[in-house]
Amino acid sequence: MIRRFTWDIVYHESLDSTNSLMYDEVSKDKSISEGYVIQTGYQTSGRGQIGNVWESKADQNLLCSILLKPEITVDHQFVISKIVCLAIVDLLNDYDIDDVRIKWPNDIYVRDKKIAGILIQNILQGKKVKFSIVGIGLNLNQDIFDSNAPNPISLKLLVNKKYNPDHLLLVLLDKLLEFYNKLQLKKISEIDHLYKFLLYRRNQRSSFTDINDISFYGMIKDVSPSGQLQILTDDGVKKFAFREIKYVL
Ligand code: BTN
Repeated sequence: MIRRFTWDIVYHESLDSTNSLMYDEVSKDKSISEGYVIQTGYQTSGRGQIGNVWESKADQNLLCSILLKPEITVDHQFVISKIVCLAIVDLLNDYDIDDVRIKWPNDIYVRDKKIAGILIQNILQGKKVKFSIVGIGLNLNQDIFDSNAPNPISLKLLVNKKYNPDHLLLVLLDKLLEFYNKLQLKKISEIDHLYKFLLYRRNQRSSFTDINDISFYGMIKDVSPSGQLQILTDDGVKKFAFREIKYVL
Protein backbone atom coordinates (compact mmCIF):
# COMPACT_ATOMS: atom_id res chain seq x y z
CA MET A 1 0.00 0.00 0.00
CA ILE A 2 1.20 3.48 -0.85
CA ARG A 3 0.80 6.09 1.87
CA ARG A 4 -0.18 9.41 0.34
CA PHE A 5 1.37 12.61 1.62
CA THR A 6 2.16 16.04 0.27
CA TRP A 7 5.48 17.82 0.19
CA ASP A 8 5.66 20.78 2.53
CA ILE A 9 8.68 22.94 1.66
CA VAL A 10 10.01 25.53 4.08
CA TYR A 11 12.73 27.80 2.73
CA HIS A 12 15.38 29.51 4.89
CA GLU A 13 17.74 32.06 3.38
CA SER A 14 20.57 30.79 5.53
CA LEU A 15 21.04 28.30 8.36
CA ASP A 16 23.74 26.05 9.79
CA SER A 17 22.72 22.79 8.12
CA THR A 18 19.36 21.61 6.80
CA ASN A 19 20.02 18.17 8.29
CA SER A 20 20.80 19.64 11.72
CA LEU A 21 17.69 21.83 11.69
CA MET A 22 15.52 18.90 10.57
CA TYR A 23 17.00 16.74 13.33
CA ASP A 24 16.27 19.41 15.95
CA GLU A 25 12.72 19.89 14.71
CA VAL A 26 11.99 16.16 14.64
CA SER A 27 13.46 15.76 18.14
CA LYS A 28 11.13 18.46 19.45
CA ASP A 29 8.00 17.33 17.61
CA LYS A 30 7.61 13.63 16.92
CA SER A 31 4.27 14.21 15.19
CA ILE A 32 5.94 16.10 12.33
CA SER A 33 4.60 14.88 8.99
CA GLU A 34 6.28 12.86 6.34
CA GLY A 35 7.08 15.03 3.33
CA TYR A 36 8.37 17.99 5.33
CA VAL A 37 11.26 19.56 3.41
CA ILE A 38 13.77 22.16 4.58
CA GLN A 39 15.53 24.04 1.78
CA THR A 40 18.14 26.74 2.08
CA GLY A 41 20.27 29.01 -0.07
CA TYR A 42 23.26 28.87 2.25
CA GLN A 43 24.60 26.65 5.03
CA THR A 44 27.15 27.96 7.51
CA SER A 45 28.03 24.39 8.60
CA GLY A 46 26.98 22.20 5.70
CA ARG A 47 27.70 18.61 6.65
CA GLY A 48 29.12 15.89 4.47
CA GLN A 49 29.73 12.25 5.27
CA ILE A 50 32.31 11.16 7.85
CA GLY A 51 32.44 14.60 9.42
CA ASN A 52 33.38 16.37 6.19
CA VAL A 53 32.20 19.85 5.30
CA TRP A 54 29.81 20.33 2.36
CA GLU A 55 30.85 23.37 0.36
CA SER A 56 28.19 25.38 -1.43
CA LYS A 57 28.34 29.09 -2.33
CA ALA A 58 25.28 31.20 -1.44
CA ASP A 59 22.24 30.66 -3.69
CA GLN A 60 24.13 28.60 -6.25
CA ASN A 61 23.02 25.06 -5.56
CA LEU A 62 20.24 22.84 -4.31
CA LEU A 63 20.52 22.20 -0.57
CA CYS A 64 17.71 20.41 1.21
CA SER A 65 16.68 17.84 3.76
CA ILE A 66 13.60 15.72 3.26
CA LEU A 67 11.72 13.88 5.99
CA LEU A 68 10.50 10.36 5.26
CA LYS A 69 8.88 7.73 7.46
CA PRO A 70 9.77 4.65 5.47
CA GLU A 71 8.47 1.86 7.77
CA ILE A 72 11.42 -0.40 7.21
CA THR A 73 13.64 -2.26 9.62
CA VAL A 74 17.16 -1.19 10.51
CA ASP A 75 18.76 -4.05 8.57
CA HIS A 76 17.11 -2.77 5.38
CA GLN A 77 17.86 0.92 5.84
CA PHE A 78 20.35 1.05 2.98
CA VAL A 79 17.42 0.89 0.55
CA ILE A 80 16.73 4.54 1.39
CA SER A 81 20.17 5.49 0.06
CA LYS A 82 19.38 3.48 -3.04
CA ILE A 83 16.11 5.22 -3.89
CA VAL A 84 17.59 8.67 -3.25
CA CYS A 85 20.53 7.90 -5.54
CA LEU A 86 18.19 6.57 -8.23
CA ALA A 87 16.02 9.71 -8.04
CA ILE A 88 19.04 11.99 -8.53
CA VAL A 89 20.45 9.92 -11.39
CA ASP A 90 17.06 9.95 -13.09
CA LEU A 91 16.79 13.71 -12.68
CA LEU A 92 20.24 14.25 -14.20
CA ASN A 93 19.44 11.94 -17.10
CA ASP A 94 16.31 14.01 -17.77
CA TYR A 95 18.58 17.04 -18.00
CA ASP A 96 20.57 15.22 -20.69
CA ILE A 97 23.52 14.35 -18.50
CA ASP A 98 24.96 11.00 -19.52
CA ASP A 99 27.43 8.78 -17.73
CA VAL A 100 25.87 9.40 -14.34
CA ARG A 101 26.92 6.77 -11.82
CA ILE A 102 26.51 6.01 -8.15
CA LYS A 103 29.78 5.87 -6.31
CA TRP A 104 28.94 3.59 -3.44
CA PRO A 105 27.49 4.22 -0.98
CA ASN A 106 25.75 7.38 -2.13
CA ASP A 107 27.80 9.87 -4.10
CA ILE A 108 26.54 10.84 -7.51
CA TYR A 109 29.25 11.02 -10.11
CA VAL A 110 29.36 12.21 -13.70
CA ARG A 111 32.29 10.34 -15.16
CA ASP A 112 34.99 10.89 -12.50
CA LYS A 113 33.49 13.98 -10.86
CA LYS A 114 31.07 14.36 -7.98
CA ILE A 115 27.93 16.36 -8.68
CA ALA A 116 25.82 15.46 -5.66
CA GLY A 117 26.23 14.20 -2.13
CA ILE A 118 23.71 12.61 0.19
CA LEU A 119 23.70 12.52 3.97
CA ILE A 120 21.06 10.27 5.47
CA GLN A 121 20.35 10.30 9.19
CA ASN A 122 17.95 7.65 10.37
CA ILE A 123 16.19 7.97 13.69
CA LEU A 124 15.39 4.53 15.02
CA GLN A 125 12.73 3.16 17.31
CA GLY A 126 13.64 -0.37 18.36
CA LYS A 127 14.45 -2.22 15.16
CA LYS A 128 12.49 0.17 12.96
CA VAL A 129 13.44 3.34 11.14
CA LYS A 130 11.03 5.90 12.58
CA PHE A 131 12.30 8.90 10.62
CA SER A 132 14.73 9.23 7.79
CA ILE A 133 16.32 12.63 7.26
CA VAL A 134 17.51 12.70 3.67
CA GLY A 135 20.00 15.53 3.10
CA ILE A 136 20.89 16.30 -0.49
CA GLY A 137 23.41 18.71 -1.95
CA LEU A 138 23.21 18.95 -5.73
CA ASN A 139 25.70 21.27 -7.42
CA LEU A 140 23.88 23.43 -9.95
CA ASN A 141 25.50 26.76 -10.76
CA GLN A 142 28.77 26.90 -8.82
CA ASP A 143 31.84 27.32 -11.10
CA ILE A 144 34.62 27.42 -8.53
CA PHE A 145 35.02 25.12 -5.57
CA ASP A 146 37.43 26.33 -2.89
CA SER A 147 37.53 23.45 -0.47
CA ASN A 148 39.65 20.39 -1.04
CA ALA A 149 36.63 18.22 -1.77
CA PRO A 150 37.72 15.71 -4.39
CA ASN A 151 36.56 16.30 -7.98
CA PRO A 152 33.52 18.55 -7.60
CA ILE A 153 31.46 19.46 -10.63
CA SER A 154 28.17 21.28 -11.21
CA LEU A 155 25.47 21.14 -13.88
CA LYS A 156 26.60 24.56 -15.09
CA LEU A 157 30.18 23.35 -15.55
CA LEU A 158 28.84 20.44 -17.58
CA VAL A 159 26.37 22.19 -19.85
CA ASN A 160 27.06 25.89 -19.40
CA LYS A 161 23.48 26.77 -18.41
CA LYS A 162 22.08 28.13 -15.16
CA TYR A 163 19.46 26.30 -13.14
CA ASN A 164 16.83 27.43 -10.66
CA PRO A 165 17.28 25.57 -7.34
CA ASP A 166 13.57 25.93 -6.43
CA HIS A 167 12.51 24.33 -9.68
CA LEU A 168 15.09 21.57 -9.41
CA LEU A 169 13.83 20.78 -5.92
CA LEU A 170 10.32 20.19 -7.28
CA VAL A 171 11.67 17.93 -10.01
CA LEU A 172 13.76 16.05 -7.45
CA LEU A 173 10.78 15.54 -5.14
CA ASP A 174 8.76 14.13 -8.06
CA LYS A 175 11.53 11.68 -8.84
CA LEU A 176 12.00 10.74 -5.22
CA LEU A 177 8.28 10.05 -4.84
CA GLU A 178 8.41 7.76 -7.86
CA PHE A 179 11.15 5.61 -6.30
CA TYR A 180 9.71 5.90 -2.78
CA ASN A 181 6.45 4.47 -4.12
CA LYS A 182 8.40 1.53 -5.56
CA LEU A 183 9.81 0.96 -2.08
CA GLN A 184 6.36 1.14 -0.52
CA LEU A 185 5.11 -1.35 -3.10
CA LYS A 186 8.05 -3.55 -2.09
CA LYS A 187 9.57 -3.55 -5.57
CA ILE A 188 12.91 -4.16 -3.92
CA SER A 189 14.48 -6.31 -6.62
CA GLU A 190 13.76 -3.61 -9.20
CA ILE A 191 15.43 -1.00 -6.96
CA ASP A 192 18.39 -3.32 -6.29
CA HIS A 193 18.82 -4.07 -9.95
CA LEU A 194 18.79 -0.40 -11.01
CA TYR A 195 21.22 0.58 -8.26
CA LYS A 196 23.60 -2.26 -9.10
CA PHE A 197 23.48 -1.43 -12.79
CA LEU A 198 24.47 2.20 -12.07
CA LEU A 199 27.37 1.47 -9.71
CA TYR A 200 30.46 3.50 -10.51
CA ARG A 201 33.30 1.26 -11.71
CA ARG A 202 31.17 -1.91 -11.59
CA ASN A 203 32.93 -4.75 -13.38
CA GLN A 204 36.05 -2.64 -13.94
CA ARG A 205 39.33 -3.71 -12.42
CA SER A 206 40.11 -0.85 -10.04
CA SER A 207 42.42 0.05 -7.23
CA PHE A 208 41.28 0.41 -3.59
CA THR A 209 42.83 0.76 -0.16
CA ASP A 210 41.54 -1.10 2.85
CA ILE A 211 41.17 0.03 6.45
CA ASN A 212 44.90 -0.58 7.06
CA ASP A 213 45.82 1.51 4.02
CA ILE A 214 46.88 -1.59 2.10
CA SER A 215 46.13 -1.20 -1.58
CA PHE A 216 44.64 -3.94 -3.67
CA TYR A 217 42.91 -4.49 -6.99
CA GLY A 218 39.40 -5.73 -7.44
CA MET A 219 36.18 -5.46 -9.35
CA ILE A 220 32.99 -4.08 -7.83
CA LYS A 221 30.23 -6.63 -8.31
CA ASP A 222 27.27 -5.61 -6.20
CA VAL A 223 26.08 -4.25 -2.87
CA SER A 224 24.52 -6.51 -0.26
CA PRO A 225 21.07 -5.69 1.20
CA SER A 226 22.77 -4.32 4.33
CA GLY A 227 24.76 -1.96 2.12
CA GLN A 228 28.17 -3.63 2.06
CA LEU A 229 30.20 -3.29 -1.12
CA GLN A 230 31.07 -6.64 -2.71
CA ILE A 231 34.40 -6.69 -4.50
CA LEU A 232 35.85 -9.59 -6.43
CA THR A 233 39.52 -9.68 -5.44
CA ASP A 234 42.32 -12.12 -6.24
CA ASP A 235 41.25 -13.89 -3.02
CA GLY A 236 37.57 -14.14 -3.94
CA VAL A 237 34.61 -11.90 -3.14
CA LYS A 238 35.11 -9.64 -0.12
CA LYS A 239 32.52 -7.40 1.57
CA PHE A 240 33.29 -3.96 2.90
CA ALA A 241 31.31 -1.62 5.09
CA PHE A 242 31.50 2.14 4.59
CA ARG A 243 34.77 3.47 6.09
CA GLU A 244 36.48 0.10 5.58
CA ILE A 245 37.53 0.88 2.02
CA LYS A 246 38.58 3.82 -0.15
CA TYR A 247 38.61 4.08 -3.91
CA VAL A 248 41.86 5.15 -5.48
CA LEU A 249 40.64 7.71 -7.99
C1 BTN B 1 28.63 13.95 1.20
O1 BTN B 1 28.76 13.60 0.04
O2 BTN B 1 29.59 14.03 1.96
C2 BTN B 1 27.25 14.27 1.70
C3 BTN B 1 26.90 15.70 1.45
C4 BTN B 1 25.50 16.07 1.86
C5 BTN B 1 25.27 17.55 1.75
C6 BTN B 1 23.86 17.94 2.02
S1 BTN B 1 23.55 19.64 1.68
C7 BTN B 1 22.00 19.56 2.44
C8 BTN B 1 22.13 18.64 3.64
N1 BTN B 1 22.51 19.40 4.83
C9 BTN B 1 23.75 19.13 5.22
O3 BTN B 1 24.33 19.67 6.16
N2 BTN B 1 24.28 18.17 4.43
C10 BTN B 1 23.34 17.73 3.43
